[in-house]
Amino acid sequence: MKIIICDKTEKEYIEQMRAAGLTVDVRDDITPEQLMVELPNYEGMVVRSRTKVRKDLIDVCPNLKVILRGGAGLDTIDHEYAKEKGITVMNTPLANSKSVAELAIGYMLMMARSLYKASATMKAETWDKKSFNGDEIGGKTLGLIGIGNIGKEVTKRALAMEMTVVAYDPYVKEMAGVKLVSLDELLAQSDYISLHLPKTKESSNMIGKEQFAKMKNGVRIVNCARGGIVNEEALYEALTSGKVAGAALDVFNEEPPTDWKLAKLDNVIASPHIGAATKEAQARVGAEVAEKLIAFAKK
Ligand code: MLT
Repeated sequence: MKIIICDKTEKEYIEQMRAAGLTVDVRDDITPEQLMVELPNYEGMVVRSRTKVRKDLIDVCPNLKVILRGGAGLDTIDHEYAKEKGITVMNTPLANSKSVAELAIGYMLMMARSLYKASATMKAETWDKKSFNGDEIGGKTLGLIGIGNIGKEVTKRALAMEMTVVAYDPYVKEMAGVKLVSLDELLAQSDYISLHLPKTKESSNMIGKEQFAKMKNGVRIVNCARGGIVNEEALYEALTSGKVAGAALDVFNEEPPTDWKLAKLDNVIASPHIGAATKEAQARVGAEVAEKLIAFAKK
């Protein structure tokens, strides 16, 4: 079976696939234009976030049998359409969970203590002790929107830090240590709101002007899920009006953003979609991709 690797994948696992008899071409710099020409020669593809697999690409690839995404979300693939065409679509739903959860918790701590600002003052050779009266995250209420694999990992860590965890997830009926509430209840009760749900038609812009109005004054928002679930214009307005005290954003509607105004705000910490960028997550993703592709080829 002939596989093209379109995004960065650990070498060790590429070698594992080759050792199992797969023909693997690494093209992790391939452009969308080149992919339209070259993908028809392959039966399988491995993608992460960079490579989008849309209908027009699927349509020119009658030989394609399997698409494997190294990551949790499938929003970068027209996966329903691919399935209609008889293509198997797989992902690695658990591999990144712990890394993303740690980033979300780290972001909450950074906002509570304004660590990013404190660090900047020290680099400017300023000893500004008086400006940094933060607060503890222990004793605060964390509202999780979405409580799947990543939400569960965030919960474990938040409970260990003595936070109260409430969650809104229409697909979950109960969860130890967590009070499941309606979205409106979550918005009204939370000191921190962290998003851990996929981007779908339903979740796009689900947090907008109306939802910000229902939040506590001074709430802090963490988005390590997908850009566009929180409406960026409404978030900008809420951050500049002071309704939202701070936001930590790892994901954006457009990546990289074409408009950097959100990332530049003083009360925003931003990172370039690095939730899964740890050596542990990369290794888990690589191992799972290799295992799944080898098993698929043996069928
Ligand atoms: C995921 O879907 O698990 C992540 O967004 C992966 C990534 O960073 O590419």
